[in-house]
Amino acid sequence: ARLVVLISGRGRNLDAIIRAIESGLLDARIELVACNRINAEGLRIARLAGLRTAAIDPKAFADRESFDLALGNRIAAAAPDWVVLAGYMRILSSAFVQRFADRLVNIHPSLLPRYKGLDTHARALANGDARHGASVHFVTPDLDAGPLIRQGSIAVDRGDSHETLADRLMQRVEQRLYPAALADLVDGRVVYRQGRVWRDERIQ
Ligand code: GRF
Repeated sequence: ARLVVLISGRGRNLDAIIRAIESGLLDARIELVACNRINAEGLRIARLAGLRTAAIDPKAFADRESFDLALGNRIAAAAPDWVVLAGYMRILSSAFVQRFADRLVNIHPSLLPRYKGLDTHARALANGDARHGASVHFVTPDLDAGPLIRQGSIAVDRGDSHETLADRLMQRVEQRLYPAALADLVDGRVVYRQGRVWRDERIQ
């Protein structure tokens, strides 16, 4: 399968996807890594892996729609089967979401539907949650509200800060969850049709 991966920051999820492809767990190719920040660390990971990158600066565009149109054109040119948001920190216009409808997936660092939006780790701590997790979901125009593909969780430790919780969630959950969820899509175990997720439990 052909993937385009969108990043904004460190690229730890991108790195996990690259490793899953190299290990054979994920039968896919990353055709492009696109980024909304010119100097994002994740671009270095992409380039070291020999991947094509496109860094597009939103400040060069009059508004969200024109930025998303330019970004969408670069993505469409790579003819992706899946557009993978991996730590992409910009709100997507509904025009962009519609353009890649049913092919757009995201990982969100909470057990959705809890804690949509930002600062999920601090909110889980403030609520005294015993467990915290991450969710891979299809992207719809409503933020962090699309149908779930996979979720994973860890126990919250008494001494956790939001930083230690975020790091452990990344290492123990996100970096395993995203490759597994993408493999579900690529291998056809999970299908998204007419706004619903269909699972083929027979294929393990
Ligand atoms: C991850 O926790 C992801 O779930 C969230 O932002 C963080 C980005 O991490 N959307 P990275 O850029 O993949 O290292």
